[in-house]
Amino acid sequence: MPDWKHHVFVCTNKRPPGHPKGSCGDRGCNEVRTALAEAIDARELFETVKLNTTDCLGPCRAGPTMVVYPENVWYAGVRPGDIAEIVQSHLVEGRPVARLLLPS
Ligand code: FES
Repeated sequence: MPDWKHHVFVCTNKRPPGHPKGSCGDRGCNEVRTALAEAIDARELFETVKLNTTDCLGPCRAGPTMVVYPENVWYAGVRPGDIAEIVQSHLVEGRPVARLLLPS
């Protein structure tokens, strides 16, 4: 069994134009996913962080969304420019980035 410390799921769902829920695919999720993948590689975190894309996580209007397990931390409205902070604060230092948490 892999021994990752964090398993990150980034929603890359895309709905057709005009869908009432919209989707992370309309809000830049692929750029977020790419930025995260590049940061994981650049920081050589691939032994401790597993990244997967996923279909809809639920809070579509708050996208792009991502969730980090096992701590069950949800992020919303993530932009590529936020990834360096998420990686350093959360995935390296274990402190989730409060300003990006999905509102409960
Ligand atoms: S489309 Fe991303 S959370 Fe629903």
